[in-house]
Amino acid sequence: PFVVTENCIKCKHTDCVEVCPVDCFHEGPNFLVIDPDECIDCTLCEPECPVNAIFPEDDVPAGQEGFVALNAELAKAWPVLTVRKDPPADAGDWDGKPGKLELLER
Ligand code: SF4
Ligand code: F3S
Repeated sequence: PFVVTENCIKCKHTDCVEVCPVDCFHEGPNFLVIDPDECIDCTLCEPECPVNAIFPEDDVPAGQEGFVALNAELAKAWPVLTVRKDPPADAGDWDGKPGKLELLER
């Protein structure tokens, strides 16, 4: 499956959700995750993310391997999102900022 990684936190553009043919994006307060049991590896979401936060499970950025399990865990807790919404007003300020995992809200 594909995995949403750290750069989505506090950016949350949600362009990704509209292209998923199997509705596997789940929404939390400031982050989205992909349900690995639903993702069919169609690859459509990966180029949609303006901050390049989506990767194949076996190609997540170094140091972000924990996001594989985090997507699986949070997908069970959070509701499905299928329609794009406006990103946070300050989304642009957070693109590429390090240490965003600490800011993840559950
Ligand atoms: Fe959905 Fe395809 Fe992205 Fe998987 S790869 S989350 S099926 S859009
Ligand atoms: Fe996050 Fe990118 Fe989707 S910022 S919500 S993975 S478009």
